[in-house]
Amino acid sequence: MNSGKPNILITEPIPAKVIDHLRDFANVTVGEKGYFQSEENLINEIQPYDALLCMLSVPVTEAVMKAGSNLKIVANFAVGYDNIDVETAGSLGIRVANTPDVLTEACGDYAMGLLLALSRKLKEAEQYLRDGNFKGWEPLGFLGMELRNRNLGIIGMGRIGQAFAHRARAFGMNILYHNRSKLDPDSEKALDATYIEDSGELAEKSDVVSLNCPLTDNTHHLVDSDFLNRMPVHALLINISRGAVIDEVALAEALHNKAIAGAALDVFEKEPEVHPKLLTAPNTLLLPHIASATHRTRQDIGMLAADAIISVLNGKDDREIPNLITP
Ligand code: DGY
Repeated sequence: MNSGKPNILITEPIPAKVIDHLRDFANVTVGEKGYFQSEENLINEIQPYDALLCMLSVPVTEAVMKAGSNLKIVANFAVGYDNIDVETAGSLGIRVANTPDVLTEACGDYAMGLLLALSRKLKEAEQYLRDGNFKGWEPLGFLGMELRNRNLGIIGMGRIGQAFAHRARAFGMNILYHNRSKLDPDSEKALDATYIEDSGELAEKSDVVSLNCPLTDNTHHLVDSDFLNRMPVHALLINISRGAVIDEVALAEALHNKAIAGAALDVFEKEPEVHPKLLTAPNTLLLPHIASATHRTRQDIGMLAADAIISVLNGKDDREIPNLITP
């Protein structure tokens, strides 16, 4: 490492343009795919680095940050940052950044895609054809749910929740939402959205429930057996937030017992593991955490994280770095 420049660890390969951008300014090390998902590997190797650009799959724990005695900033390559111990970072004077805004539209598109695929049973229908079972047009084959006038209940009405709601409105859906706080009147009006204070009531009233909230102590296992039992039997569940918002054992049971009609899951409680009973559940789409996976968005995510690093290492005032998280 060149001693005149700061040292940055990027925990795995990201778009080349972002790496080049950081190389103009610092010594950059890029880890091998998956290697720094191990807390132990990170603890052993973090010490020389001034900045860490990490993936959401990397556990940035108290032990990691204490081992990183030169660390000034941890920038997550994601909007969700439940993998980072933000309190400890604050107490050690380490800045934390995430990547809001740049992935909103990609995630909104993706949630809509999951809803269409799930409500029209696209996965099962395609498999049926590939298995050689399509013998001609069938009046009773693969009947799904039409979206017009159905209630979409969104838990977590931040940027991504609202982006999904706007798309669903274009399909004629009614928007219900549960959130830490009510939207401002203009945003609520733009979506003709109804606030529901009690998440269980939202479960009862929704034909589709979508999880778009961060994972916190309050949202951990928010979707449990009680919540699932309150959903109508024809209802669908979509999760692009974090796996642990759902009690996966309870969900697998609800799907197998047909207590709800299907689920589309982009995220899992113990990624990359998927609960074995979810793998065999009917009408269930299981995807490898790809809501933000477009070329443009992944590059924008990287640039936003990289710019926060450059700003912090250049000593810029925190108030001028919009994507820093305050503990
Ligand atoms: C994030 O950035 O937190 C999301 O999980 C992307 O899909």
